[in-house]
Amino acid sequence: MPSFKADEASNYEQRITRLVPGYELLHDLTAAQLKTLLPDEANILVVGAGTGKDIIALAQLNPHWHFIAQDISDDMLAIADQNFTNLGLSNRVTIVNGPLAEPSGEHIDAALCLLVLHFLPDNGDKQDLLNTIRAQLPHRAPLFLADLMAPETEFERESQLLACRQLGLTEIGEQRMRHNLLHEFYPLDRMRLAELLAQTGFDTPHHYFKALGFTGVVCRAD
Ligand SMILES: C[S@@+](CC[C@H](N)C(=O)[O-])C[C@H]1O[C@@H](n2cnc3c(N)ncnc32)[C@H](O)[C@@H]1O
Repeated sequence: MPSFKADEASNYEQRITRLVPGYELLHDLTAAQLKTLLPDEANILVVGAGTGKDIIALAQLNPHWHFIAQDISDDMLAIADQNFTNLGLSNRVTIVNGPLAEPSGEHIDAALCLLVLHFLPDNGDKQDLLNTIRAQLPHRAPLFLADLMAPETEFERESQLLACRQLGLTEIGEQRMRHNLLHEFYPLDRMRLAELLAQTGFDTPHHYFKALGFTGVVCRAD
């Protein structure tokens, strides 16, 4: 997994839009669904909040929602914190630096985990994170999940690299991404994702976003 520390944090916002085709759209579509689903007063858990993009997209759609911004990289969270301050959002966000803890008893209406789970191996680590998220959620609360999935055609990954070049990725960046796609991600296929979600207390995942390998699904806590 990338470290998301130092330079990997400070250049994240420039890098990510060239590495994930449809990055902005993924966040816009996730936010639109939450706006449709949730009441005006809601508390949203964002696991792997990074530099705050998920929360900024959501906060723009509703002025009352509160957020928990959790991440294991203090460098990413420091940028998020600055972004929240710049946008006047700080009083609506609780920052949690470190692994997701046991539930505090605070009511949570929905959770997001965008572009995080694909970095964890399927050796129990993905399951542990999903179990920890599930423990925070009441029955029927939605979880929005987005990850690089296993390729569905033999030309998908190559096309994805080409799409990244069209988004401005350099040749060196492409070589790095080609390597990372093989060595830094642990992509699941649809069946395994559905199985893991069932094992961790979520219902059937419904796909709402697909940009070559990057896939967004929504499911609900059983
Ligand atoms: C690609 S970034 C995605 C950030 C944000 N969700 C977005 O869409 O821009 C992945 C983030 O997940 C965080 N991360 C990785 N493993 C994690 C874990 N087990 N729990 C919480 N955050 C984690 C990393 O530190 C990093 O900030």
